[in-house]
Amino acid sequence: MDGDCSSTEFAVGAPSGAAGARFWERYARVYDRIWDSPLTDAVNRQLWTNLPAAGQAVDLGCGTGLSSGPLRRLGWSVTGVDQSSAMLDRAVQHGRITTALCRDAANTGLPSGRADLVLVSNLLHLTAEPVAVLDEAWRLLAPAGLLAVVWPASGATLGTALRADLRAGRAFGRSLAAAFDRLGVGLAGVRVGARAHSGAAVADVVDAWVAARGAVAVHAGSVFDVECYLVVSKPGNHRA
Ligand SMILES: C[S@@+](CC[C@H](N)C(=O)[O-])C[C@H]1O[C@@H](n2cnc3c(N)ncnc32)[C@H](O)[C@@H]1O
Repeated sequence: MDGDCSSTEFAVGAPSGAAGARFWERYARVYDRIWDSPLTDAVNRQLWTNLPAAGQAVDLGCGTGLSSGPLRRLGWSVTGVDQSSAMLDRAVQHGRITTALCRDAANTGLPSGRADLVLVSNLLHLTAEPVAVLDEAWRLLAPAGLLAVVWPASGATLGTALRADLRAGRAFGRSLAAAFDRLGVGLAGVRVGARAHSGAAVADVVDAWVAARGAVAVHAGSVFDVECYLVVSKPGNHRA
């Protein structure tokens, strides 16, 4: 895999229960201020170049739909799945997803083998069972579909995120404001006992899972040293 995907802690985890719901509600309020940015645009450009003709996509852990928005503009229909209604509400309000489903990403209840594209972006480090999420994504995927996975790169910190924002061309004031928002979310996460897998751990899980399923790598890399991505297809349907 390209890029440095071998060691990180992000401060935010996936708390559950009432405290978790409050945490995600708070994060949803500032999510776009942090992540609706040239950095996210750069990740989306990597992911969504050379896409097949528009079809049906599923975005697992879609958040406010920042990865789905560009797909919608390309004519894709997107089912956004998230455990947080606060996140989903924003994705719907912005027209970034077609359908909102408030479910666990590892157990969506959606039909098997129908999605032309499944996205798992910045979710695996937050979930206790990343393999279960990848397996669910694989189950949803049509035989000729594509699965895109994004996760925080190793060594990513508040400092590297700030530098990445600036390198991606975000204005200094906005980059600094995003850094303070990230700090606020991180501290809120610590207060509710949030935990996250390291970028290295996620990379290991993804690599082992890809090998076990015989998934075929189509496209992989890292963006500004803070986000890693991998696009795979099912065996026998290699599109590269
Ligand atoms: C860091 S955000 C990423 C959002 C979006 N995918 C992106 O890349 O901008 C993580 C999202 O995953 C959701 N999430 C965390 N654990 C989940 C789970 N087990 N099932 C569904 N959604 C989950 C959170 O509510 C949050 O919206």
